[in-house]
Amino acid sequence: MGRSEPGPAELEPIERASVDELRAVQLERLRWSLRHAYENVPHYRSAFAAAGVRPDDLREAADLDRFPFTRKSDLRDSYPFGMFAVPRDRVARLHASSGTTGRPTVVGYTTDDVRTWARLMARSIRAAGGRPGDRVHVAYGYGLFTGGLGAHYGAEELGCTVIPVSGGMTERQVMLIRDFEPDVIMVTPTYFLAIVDELVRQGIDPRSTSLRVGIFGAEPWTEQMRAEIEQRVGMDALDIYGLSEVMGPGVAVECAEAKDGLHVWEDHFYPEIIDPQTGVVLPDGERGELVFTSLTKQAMPVVRYRTGDLTRLLPGTARPMRRIEKITGRTDDMIILRGVNLFPTQIEELILRTPALSPHFQCVLTRAGRLDALTVRVERRPDAEPAAGTRAGAELAEAVKNTIGVSIAVEVIEPDGVERSLGKMRRIIDQRRAAD
Ligand code: DLL
Repeated sequence: MGRSEPGPAELEPIERASVDELRAVQLERLRWSLRHAYENVPHYRSAFAAAGVRPDDLREAADLDRFPFTRKSDLRDSYPFGMFAVPRDRVARLHASSGTTGRPTVVGYTTDDVRTWARLMARSIRAAGGRPGDRVHVAYGYGLFTGGLGAHYGAEELGCTVIPVSGGMTERQVMLIRDFEPDVIMVTPTYFLAIVDELVRQGIDPRSTSLRVGIFGAEPWTEQMRAEIEQRVGMDALDIYGLSEVMGPGVAVECAEAKDGLHVWEDHFYPEIIDPQTGVVLPDGERGELVFTSLTKQAMPVVRYRTGDLTRLLPGTARPMRRIEKITGRTDDMIILRGVNLFPTQIEELILRTPALSPHFQCVLTRAGRLDALTVRVERRPDAEPAAGTRAGAELAEAVKNTIGVSIAVEVIEPDGVERSLGKMRRIIDQRRAAD
């Protein structure tokens, strides 16, 4: 806010290129990447053979739909290093995604890959409104998770002063925000809410901090949550997307000047949207599952990797690269209740439209007999009377019934009743198994 927008001179040439120029770069890189995967990773060689395709069968980008998908299970099956396309001694860094059960998925980077990632993160931070010289407070977790180190390298590459705090120790986060006066914070949106609550608990007005830009990602969040954060803290809240299998944070990001969906850095990642049931590629504008093919990754190329994330592709605006709409949720986070599909993001939207309810909530799934039931446990806002909270709970149940078309139970609980996340928030608590 109050800053001049980036002049075109600050953008990289590819950010100012025409769509045709971008498509030409993509096609050349796509050909290279398919060949690289095929020649160096046994999994791709056999998967391509099973689908009856060879890298040369790709003449135009649309031919990609003849190539097989890659799933998380393929990465698990080749645990730990089977998907690497370079000798182990060229792998400069390993990361892994936690995986709620079983083996984690391991990803590797060459020094060039780490460099590309740092550049793309620098590009992302700048697109979101960060500038060289800014102080950047990184509260994404450091470690095998890609959030902390991804943000760190990017901010350093952009020429910022990095404050590598990592997640947790919320009181100390607040002290460092007060004392070091960062311009930018990079953190999951739900953990940022916990930091804001701690500011309030310490008697500090959240609007009085030095923070100007928040770059939030690693979990779904809604336009209503953006409004809540921007209004409460007096800052710009921008969305950043990524996944470790494809690189980490910085696959797509919103631009400060448009704030209207996330530009996919298409010079490095080729996006497709497919019907999650049939696998058929859908035209731009239609909602489905996001799929990525890496265009420049050396250590671990991915071909048509199924992210499980639901969104749609939209034309570029402030950049030639296409945008994705904010992610609605993951295919495996979809709640099916008496035949109606719903996502925690839809509940978030409705909660934030109900003034006495806070954005801290969880969706608890239970089973009574053969029927699944959903209870939304949501905190009343500290400044709302308990009676107002109870009324708001009934309003929320009513709103869910009217807009989503399904009956749910709402339990309004005291402030601080929902466990705070230090990173990604677990929105769904599935107690159905226990009830079987
Ligand atoms: O979450 C990378 C990341 C770190 C992105 C920091 C942004 C900021 P993973 O742990 O592999 O990597 O989890 C990837 O998180 O498939 C989505 O389901 C979800 N996700 C990531 N960013 C967003 C976002 C990191 N902006 C998985 N909106 C992805 C919605 C997101 N979901």
